Amino acid sequence: MALTGLFLCLFLVIHLAGNLQLLLPPAKAEIQFNLYSRILSGNLIIKAISWLLFLSIIAHAVYALVITLQNRRAAGGAYAFDRRRSASNWYARNMGILGSIILIFLVIHLKDFWYLYSFGSLPMDAEGNKNLFEIVVNAYGAWWYVALNVIAFIVLGYHLLHGFSSAFKTLGAYPTRTSRIIHYAGIAFTVILTTGFVFIPIYIYFTYHSA
Ligand code: HEM
Repeated sequence: MALTGLFLCLFLVIHLAGNLQLLLPPAKAEIQFNLYSRILSGNLIIKAISWLLFLSIIAHAVYALVITLQNRRAAGGAYAFDRRRSASNWYARNMGILGSIILIFLVIHLKDFWYLYSFGSLPMDAEGNKNLFEIVVNAYGAWWYVALNVIAFIVLGYHLLHGFSSAFKTLGAYPTRTSRIIHYAGIAFTVILTTGFVFIPIYIYFTYHSA
């Protein structure tokens, strides 16, 4: 879980960096984002990493399900005396629910962008590249779609808030000083990543659709 989780974190950093190109001035953003997408999709190594990414998402979700079922069986039904609230945060106790919401978001997200780009027919830009930029900008023209994305990114933020430091603990970062550093690094990582993801659809909505 920890290794697939950290690999997914690394993907998120790279994905956010790529998506930040959507914030360039409009004419430049279109050409640059479409060129970037073509270069990524045409590279064999990136394609292999992409399939590894899909495998990691499936492995992460399946293993989470197995652990949840094992824990439930080990607990042997509801606790007679339950004081877990005082020992952990609500998001740490609801990682399964948060993860399931992210999975639902991912299915919609992959259908709308990745599947369409890989297998659909797209308009072309002035440079002859598939116009994925137009697809993304059009998608974020609907306020409810922006809202759904923002909610999913906030859910992802809470999932990371526990998951990031938890992954390092699983890998052995137990001494108090190290775990404190990892705890704060996890908060910084989550805040930067979530703010970046949340900002993009809102920016697109108000820049391209607010007339
Ligand atoms: C502002 C937010 C986001 C935007 C604008 C965005 C946009 C896109 C676009 C255009 C694609 C298709 C092109 C490509 O394959 O790179 C894509 C793919 C993908 N996105 Fe996002 N995305 C966002 C956030 C996220 C988040 C938060 C996640 C994870 C929870 C995510 C997971 C993925 C995955 C797994 C793929 C497939 C990557 C691959 O081809 O290997 N995206 N996204």
